[in-house]
Amino acid sequence: MSPSTGAALRLLAATVDAKAVAEIGTGTGVSGIHLLHGMRPDGVLTTVDPEPEHQQFARQAFRACGFASNRARFIPGRALDVLPRLADAGYDLVFCDGDRLEFLDYLAESLRLLRPGGLVVFEGVFANGRTVDSGPQPTEVTRIRELLRAVRESQELVPSLLPVGDGLLCAVKR
Ligand SMILES: C[S@@+](CC[C@H](N)C(=O)[O-])C[C@H]1O[C@@H](n2cnc3c(N)ncnc32)[C@H](O)[C@@H]1O
Repeated sequence: MSPSTGAALRLLAATVDAKAVAEIGTGTGVSGIHLLHGMRPDGVLTTVDPEPEHQQFARQAFRACGFASNRARFIPGRALDVLPRLADAGYDLVFCDGDRLEFLDYLAESLRLLRPGGLVVFEGVFANGRTVDSGPQPTEVTRIRELLRAVRESQELVPSLLPVGDGLLCAVKR
């Protein structure tokens, strides 16, 4: 994740005064650290990843950055298995950085999870320039194009595609 993407995540979390953030794709915790910095001091990051060793690494990284252990809730598992168990309208921000083939499903789940005025954010929607390349592209890229179209056409969302890093698609739920 680029430093500019990290800074944007901090800004977005602070803009919605985030107390509850859901993250799809814990990874090594880089995005989580930025989100935690932008959230309220009592805010809790719920982060989902099927790889236990990724979550273990992120847990250590959060601790090394000085975040109390109760600032993060680690849920092991695939997003589409875990997200249906999370509370309706219980989140101020949903950050999607998991499996790009599932981005459209994450959008549907996010609309349910977000409170009105909450933000959904997708990382990497430029796909290293392939999203706007007219040549043949893998399914991952066609799925991202479908996501961009769905967000643009949604009556429930006010979107903006920020040209930071590999493209950060943001949308506010009305
Ligand atoms: C690009 S990395 C995330 C990087 C992380 N946000 C960071 O900044 O450190 C993608 C992560 O998504 C996880 N992942 C893959 N499929 C997933 C799924 N179906 N649900 C949730 N996470 C998934 C991978 O294990 C990987 O850790």
